[in-house]
Amino acid sequence: MGGFWCAVGEAHISTIAVHPDWRGRKLGEALLSAMLAHGIALGAVEAVLEVRVSNDVAINLYRKYGFEIVGRRPHYYHDNREDAWLMAVSQMDAAYQARLARLRRALVARVPLVDKVNGAPSAPAP
Ligand SMILES: CC(C)(COP(=O)(O)OP(=O)(O)OC[C@H]1O[C@@H](n2cnc3c(N)ncnc32)[C@H](O)[C@@H]1OP(=O)(O)O)[C@@H](O)C(=O)NCCC(=O)NCCS
Repeated sequence: MGGFWCAVGEAHISTIAVHPDWRGRKLGEALLSAMLAHGIALGAVEAVLEVRVSNDVAINLYRKYGFEIVGRRPHYYHDNREDAWLMAVSQMDAAYQARLARLRRALVARVPLVDKVNGAPSAPAP
């Protein structure tokens, strides 16, 4: 599952998770790619998220999609008071959108189903 909200030009990725049995099969990447595409379609020009500083798998995924560490939130997580990295793509401009499209083509080549379940976003509600 994945969740994000979009407000004043910012897409904030709040949730992304794949069932443990299905990890490593590009589904997390498909979710992130779709959320970024939907965010852009909704008018987002930047994207942000928080991630546990120990979560190397997720950090790798976000770096692949151009996120960079822009801050640290101390004791952000309630369960163990772990810090979060604040990561951002600060400019989802034409060059970034071209990068996103290249990544998506590579993803669809490896996981063709992604193109069917994860196609172009529908128009936002009026
Ligand atoms: C993070 C998560 C969503 C990734 O989803 P996934 O479907 O397993 O990942 P994918 O197969 O789509 O992999 C995409 C990229 O993630 C990174 N990645 C995935 N598995 C990895 C691993 N075992 N080690 C290092 N990097 C890894 C790589 O950058 C990979 O791209 P590549 O294959 O081109 O190298 C998944 O591991 C998850 O649900 N984790 C628990 C919840 C969580 O931590 N969510 C993030 C909260 S901020």
